Amino acid sequence: MRMNKDFEISVAPMMDWTDRHCRYFHRLISPHAKLYTEMVTAGALIHGDAARFLRFDKAEHPVALQLGGSDEAPLARSAEMGAAHGYDEINLNCGCPSDRVQSGSFGACLMNEPAHVAACIGAMIDAVDIPVTVKCRIGIDKEDSFEFLDRFVGTIADKGCKTFIIHARSAWLKGLSPKENRDVPPLNYARVHEVKEKYPELRIILNGGVTQMTRIEEAEGLDGVMIGREAYQNPYWLAEVERKIFGNHEVLGRDKIARAMIPYIERQAAEFDTPVKSITRHMMGLYHHQPGAKHWRRALSNYPYEDGAGSEVIEKAIADKDAAVKVHADARKE
Ligand SMILES: Cc1cc2nc3c(=O)[nH]c(=O)nc-3n(C[C@H](O)[C@H](O)[C@H](O)COP(=O)(O)O)c2cc1C
Repeated sequence: MRMNKDFEISVAPMMDWTDRHCRYFHRLISPHAKLYTEMVTAGALIHGDAARFLRFDKAEHPVALQLGGSDEAPLARSAEMGAAHGYDEINLNCGCPSDRVQSGSFGACLMNEPAHVAACIGAMIDAVDIPVTVKCRIGIDKEDSFEFLDRFVGTIADKGCKTFIIHARSAWLKGLSPKENRDVPPLNYARVHEVKEKYPELRIILNGGVTQMTRIEEAEGLDGVMIGREAYQNPYWLAEVERKIFGNHEVLGRDKIARAMIPYIERQAAEFDTPVKSITRHMMGLYHHQPGAKHWRRALSNYPYEDGAGSEVIEKAIADKDAAVKVHADARKE
């Protein structure tokens, strides 16, 4: 694969999924991927428990904070808080179609207001010394022309934003749930390439439907891909990506990754009283498509929920998985 030097792999911001525990787990599998937080609204950061929202482990670097919002001053203030906390990048969500987000007039509907987004981005850039980036769609509703996307990207790039992560499908603000809108309408990678052709000086990252190496190859000429659901549901795929994109052959095997979570689970319990289930829920997909996967998932759906459960659930789940694999292997020998 002949990717641009500095080709970037990232794991997408995903609400309820990419919390700090999930990101720590992903980092063990993928030393090179950039990791994104779940979206945090500027209002929640400023008026809520900022320390809790912003908490991350230093192993997570490089890690980007995704913000939601549509007002300059709170976004600039939130960006400042993120930078002061040690984040490597601040990203503005201009791609989420959910009703809750629309009623706050941010997310994907911001694509209708490029000048306003540009003002917000300008204020955020002035507030911090780290990169401020935008995550958007290729269009919204009937506005799916190149001209629409071009106007959005061009107006914001004029304010100094150098990186755009583009989910290669339009957002439909009416008639589809956000979940449905992640598979419909069809992906249009060519549109993302058109943006790169017009703005070769910008970093353009492709998002949407990147679930296998051939999809990453389709991003040749771009500056990277952002992987969403596949990274969550089949996290060990990130190990293959490490090998093929970064030439990193040192990634630990699945069992070692699982065991490397044990000290983390113990540290989180000691420092923050974190229940083990809050961490293991992100590890369900570790053995995706591997022998014993069903037993691993079953174990993680049960043991962490028992009273007094702690880090021992990892060894118990590995043992259940291995026992199932052995029974299967013995049966085949007979
Ligand atoms: C459970 C879930 C939560 C999501 N939350 C966010 C979010 O907070 N911010 C955001 O920009 N996108 C969010 N997304 C969209 C993803 O970042 C990504 O753009 C989308 O899933 C398409 O990529 P994929 O096909 O690789 O999954 C979410 C997606 C999922 C599945």
